[in-house]
Amino acid sequence: MDPSDAAYAGQEVYSRAFLRMYDPVILGFYGNVVWRCPTSRLVQQYRQHVGHRHLDVGPGTGYFLEHGRLPNDARITLLDPKPDVLAHAARRLSDRHPSAIQADVLKPLPLTAGDRFDSAAMNYVLHCLPGPPVRKAAAAQNVAAVLKPGGVLFGATVLGATGPHTWLSQAVLWFVNSRRIFDNLSDTEDGLRDVLEASFATVEIDVIGSVAVFTART
Ligand SMILES: C[S@@+](CC[C@H](N)C(=O)[O-])C[C@H]1O[C@@H](n2cnc3c(N)ncnc32)[C@H](O)[C@@H]1O
Repeated sequence: MDPSDAAYAGQEVYSRAFLRMYDPVILGFYGNVVWRCPTSRLVQQYRQHVGHRHLDVGPGTGYFLEHGRLPNDARITLLDPKPDVLAHAARRLSDRHPSAIQADVLKPLPLTAGDRFDSAAMNYVLHCLPGPPVRKAAAAQNVAAVLKPGGVLFGATVLGATGPHTWLSQAVLWFVNSRRIFDNLSDTEDGLRDVLEASFATVEIDVIGSVAVFTART
């Protein structure tokens, strides 16, 4: 991704070194303790929604795909602008032979007309995308465009400054925004609903700790 792109900062941090410590630090400590949304709850969401043809936007280390009890015949496509992420997740899931696409979810996805998915995940990705929330609507729109009718998008995103934060999560929120790792200070549950409802027929959001956990269907 071009460093001048507004979305560059949100994916830059996912280097090979960072990905090696991601699961215990980010999913173990930050997810469970700082944001107070049990990682096990998000694994459950994968188990509930992953379909036969699944698109994973921003797969990170591939943790959720490994633990999500995917159908044996599931066909997985990984999509991320960062080559290190695609290599790490593809290696972890090598027994499932995933396809990997280097792309930015904010731009129309480089998929052929026949590529249609039963499910897509966008887990802990929206808070990395450039704000305000209305700018993130392109991500929902681009994913909706590659889902089959009745297909499901699910995921989670950390809420912004007016969200249900503790002093600890508020401090971390401001720090990660100052480093541009997150760009979500103005993200709200209502803003997320608007973003999803612009492209999906039904939207459900549960707020758990400082995190909005969402499901949307075409
Ligand atoms: C916080 S990690 C989440 C990883 C994984 N989904 C999880 O929940 O553990 C954010 C992921 O989103 C990816 N990402 C950031 N900006 C993106 C963009 N514009 N398009 C697609 N993926 C992006 C990052 O490279 C990284 O893989």
